[in-house]
Amino acid sequence: MRLVVVSNRVTVPDRNEKAAAGGLAVALREALEKHGGLWFGWSGAVSEGPSQEIRQIQRGKVTYALTDLGEAERQSYYLGFSNRALWPIMHYRLGLTEFQRSDYMGYLGVNRRFARALAGLIQPDDVIWIHDYHLIPLAAELRRRGIGNRIGYFHHIPWPSADVLGALPFSSTLIRTLTSYDLVGMQTQIDARNLIDGLVSLCGGKAEGSTLRLGGRKTVIRAFPIGIDVESFRRLAAASVRQAATPLRATRESLGERKLVIGVDRLDYSKGIVQRLEAFGQFLRSHPDQRSRVGLLQIAPPSRSDVPEYAELDRQSDEVAGRLNAQLGEFDWTPIRVVKKAYSRSALAGFYRRAQVGLVTPMRDGMNLVAKEYVAAQDPADPGVLVLSRFAGAAQQMGEALIVNPYDTHEVAEAIRTALAMPKSERIRRFEALYRTISATDIAWWTNRYLDALSAGREVPDEPRSWPIEISGGRPAASGNRLPDPKTGESRSHAKAEPETRAGAAKPPLRATGADRPGGKSAPRTGKGTPRLKVVGS
Ligand code: F6P
Repeated sequence: MRLVVVSNRVTVPDRNEKAAAGGLAVALREALEKHGGLWFGWSGAVSEGPSQEIRQIQRGKVTYALTDLGEAERQSYYLGFSNRALWPIMHYRLGLTEFQRSDYMGYLGVNRRFARALAGLIQPDDVIWIHDYHLIPLAAELRRRGIGNRIGYFHHIPWPSADVLGALPFSSTLIRTLTSYDLVGMQTQIDARNLIDGLVSLCGGKAEGSTLRLGGRKTVIRAFPIGIDVESFRRLAAASVRQAATPLRATRESLGERKLVIGVDRLDYSKGIVQRLEAFGQFLRSHPDQRSRVGLLQIAPPSRSDVPEYAELDRQSDEVAGRLNAQLGEFDWTPIRVVKKAYSRSALAGFYRRAQVGLVTPMRDGMNLVAKEYVAAQDPADPGVLVLSRFAGAAQQMGEALIVNPYDTHEVAEAIRTALAMPKSERIRRFEALYRTISATDIAWWTNRYLDALSAGREVPDEPRSWPIEISGGRPAASGNRLPDPKTGESRSHAKAEPETRAGAAKPPLRATGADRPGGKSAPRTGKGTPRLKVVGS
């Protein structure tokens, strides 16, 4: 079997590459290098007119097949329909959703052009794996060209309820094209349920569990929560402590004894950066004793700056950080630093390791790999605390974080305080549980589980509602994934949950505790009950 991956943007790796802030590029490259194959998509370059040329570049076991976008295609397909219509509506932001028929036509046109080019490269036993909202109709276009291979789709961002999505013109026609796939993967069970409900209510499909039948086709729709390469990220973070001239060291020198709270996100309104800055300001106002003792470092590489809402966010984040620094800062202490540039993965790993608090508070997010990277980077003997939005897909798995509602500034401010004051024993207990979860569901687990289900049409068991984690005793309770040794930092064993899930074993490897749902019974909370979401959108 050869693996063919298709994604909107394809970056051919080079030696001095910067980290991809979105995380998708990193995840897919790791998957392809393991399986070998072809990666097709947009080069990131823009030509004046539409380009038909496909450039092929070989890197190890991976062939990259790249095409440029014409300027009109970039405007309509990428900036227009993908990022001004689909992106906001998928993130429940109806008020920001901007629909133009010409953009939708451009979106369909690029999908048709990609299908024409790709069809010529497909071999009979290829398994095709298409990624993300830019390419929803691609399988339908490939089928039209006689491609009968197994084709899967993975949706990296949230999928809203049919009520919300139904507001988008042509949404039923568009989502119906998903039935050309054999397997549709979502980040969470909530997203999978929303899509199935949408295909039933908007398109008249028939659902039976995770199987959807429509127009003579059968599509399986399941949750496949994406992971990271935990072990390699852990190593990067541990190495950053030993190296001499690293950003970690420079941060240590500039911060001295002060504690560090960190946020790392593409500059995107879905990430809740402005709300996070306000929450940090609120924390300093409510706890004046903490002033001069802690700083927030927000790394926010700019993104999609040709979309007006992103340009506005850029301006707004500067304005809020400037105001809070002027109101709360001292001559020798700047409370908030916003750095609008990308850092290498190893620099990020070092920053995470230095930070006592990882602040991951998106207003809505498919998964959020920063939450997982932050945990992977911690020193097991003295770990930091993750504060995590309940609206990130990661919250479905990572209930031992401090789960917050990002719309509630006070709740986030109090979670920062709780995290900074948390006793070491509790920090270790939470870290161990989180580390075991992200190890058991790492990038290899995600890829294998998805490709097993896609290539062989094999049944994979439901993603457990609760991850098999023993948190009550503080130490791992049984075999399976092991934590890094607190002294050496080395992992002691790395048997994955994968064999059990792949083989369809009935028993989870460890005892389930029901601890990992946002708002779930034993999920630690910082507020008073479950606050209501007042405003979604605009
Ligand atoms: O996760 C969603 C996503 O669109 C990814 O596909 C992409 O890698 C990332 O966000 C960055 O987006 P863009 O390619 O628009 O800069």
